[in-house]
Amino acid sequence: SPDKTPKHFLDINELPLSELKRMLAASSAMKAKQKAHQPVRPLEGKTLAMIFERPSTRTRVSFDVAMRQLGGEPIMLTGAEMQLGRGETIADTARVLSRYVDAIMIRILNHDALLELAANATVPVINGLTRRSHPCQVMADLMTYEEHRGPIEGKTVAWTGDDNNVLASWAHAAERFKFQLNVATPPELAPKKAMRDFIKATGAPIMLGTDAEAAVRGADCVVTDTWVSMGDKEGEHRHNVLKPYQVNAQLMSLAKPDALFMHCLPAHRGEEVTDEVIDGPQSVVFDEAENRLHAQKGILAWCFDAVK
Ligand code: CP
Ligand code: NVA
Repeated sequence: SPDKTPKHFLDINELPLSELKRMLAASSAMKAKQKAHQPVRPLEGKTLAMIFERPSTRTRVSFDVAMRQLGGEPIMLTGAEMQLGRGETIADTARVLSRYVDAIMIRILNHDALLELAANATVPVINGLTRRSHPCQVMADLMTYEEHRGPIEGKTVAWTGDDNNVLASWAHAAERFKFQLNVATPPELAPKKAMRDFIKATGAPIMLGTDAEAAVRGADCVVTDTWVSMGDKEGEHRHNVLKPYQVNAQLMSLAKPDALFMHCLPAHRGEEVTDEVIDGPQSVVFDEAENRLHAQKGILAWCFDAVK
């Protein structure tokens, strides 16, 4: 019925594990079909508005292509070109767009603005990255891990770097999918109270620390990300305190011999990761990038109630 609450995709920890698994299964099925040149088109006649307040290569292109391959149509918008840039409220923008399109994907730093959009939209809203989280990325990463190594449940993932949006979504995933997450950050860039409260409230298997070697030792997967996220102030200081968290061959050698290396990209080679690691045999960074396309098909199909 038109009154039912839209199926938003805002954060991984807001959805039951069974639904997340359905999305991933749908993603894999659609990927296989696409590779076999038997594309499926469950979104025929549907339109997705994509709003970008920040730059993007992967998210923008993969959502655009995903909509086209599924038979739907994307509309690319940037905040600055909309009345949003001149002060129209997020809530009114949500109400208006809901009259035209069937779903909205947004990349906006302010997480509360995402929530306000979702609260006022009558169509599904998808989080395409905020300051707080990046759930689409981690769905692609889970898919990638499981393609290479089977179920992630019970495995150990190590994060080394600063506390950021991608880490938050990994933490949400650790709680849902029940894998160990070892986090190493410089003390001053450690996860904030919200993450500590989340761990306490849920009992998620997450260990917060400051020692990169301790986090990586024996891990099945090593993950890092840029030292300067969108919205962070650049600065020598960040680089100095993050230097010991670089994923290089020496750090990687402490993980399991068959450990995977993951990075959401874009990478800053020579900073958070060396060429040797990101171009090495354990790296699956371009599989992750490809899987943004496939994982998002599962997310889109789920939002549109088109997952079989
Ligand atoms: N990983 C990711 O979200 O990349 P973009 O910023 O290019 O979308
Ligand atoms: N943490 C990074 C991810 C980019 C995809 C950022 O927010 O800039």
